[in-house]
Amino acid sequence: MSRIVYVNGDYLPEEDAKISVFDRGFLFADGVYEVTSVLGGKLIDFEGHAKRLERSLSELDMSAPVTMDALLEIHRELVARNEVHEGLVYLQVTRGAADRDFAYPAEPKPSLVLFTQTKTLADTPVAKTGIKVISIEDQRWGRRDIKTVQLLYPSMGKMMAKAAGVDDAWMVEDGSVTEGTSNNAYIVTKAGTIVTRHLGNEILHGITRAAVLRFAREAQMTVEERSFTIEEAKDAAEAFITSASTFVMPVVELDGAQIGDGTPGPVATRLREIYLEESLKKAV
Ligand code: PDD
Repeated sequence: MSRIVYVNGDYLPEEDAKISVFDRGFLFADGVYEVTSVLGGKLIDFEGHAKRLERSLSELDMSAPVTMDALLEIHRELVARNEVHEGLVYLQVTRGAADRDFAYPAEPKPSLVLFTQTKTLADTPVAKTGIKVISIEDQRWGRRDIKTVQLLYPSMGKMMAKAAGVDDAWMVEDGSVTEGTSNNAYIVTKAGTIVTRHLGNEILHGITRAAVLRFAREAQMTVEERSFTIEEAKDAAEAFITSASTFVMPVVELDGAQIGDGTPGPVATRLREIYLEESLKKAV
């Protein structure tokens, strides 16, 4: 069965779905995106993703091509048509096709594309062993709080990780960890405090991050939103990442150094359980 994707109002087999070569997403990376996970055929944290999309669009003076209610319907329709029980919905809005010009077109016609990916997310074996990361310099642009499609440097980071024989990279700027290539980064100090970088233009304001920090505080865990260094991370009791595609994923090695005892720690393991349990309750 061919996958059905959504392009500007139509549900089409993927081989028939087309975007103009003049689309500004293609020419200028002039577009934003969201990735929402699907568990049990339902969308996790949809409202958070929709709100962040609105913010990304507004930061770039783009208008939403459809209402957020319509967007929810499109998500649901795609999940149903592709029979996605578990996986992801990818959404992209670009400023649309216009003759190539650095200046934005006066009357943009935004493009809206959505597709699904079926994938095991919750019961993945790697959650039981944890992932290994290296540190790399953060060479991305200065507005990482906007979820744009310019992902070349994060792709390069993944390739650097792959070349080093590990799973991912944590990016470092001015001596502090910003975030992972496609996830937010955390450590748990030996005193049990969860530390993750404070919000700002330097990182993406993760939707999973917001939920996980809320659940952690509700469970009486101590949370500090502040910068931390690679040295502090290597000395931590635990480390982990969060994102829509990994939920809470333990990190057991950083730059070749084992973190804690080299296995997923109790805080990351517990937060993964809580996140899965609580977000499933509110899935739509
Ligand atoms: N990435 N930081 C970056 C740079 C990201 O690309 C992502 C998400 C996150 C986590 O955000 P959230 O919890 O809202 O997924 C943090 C998605 C999953 C991706 O690009 O595939």
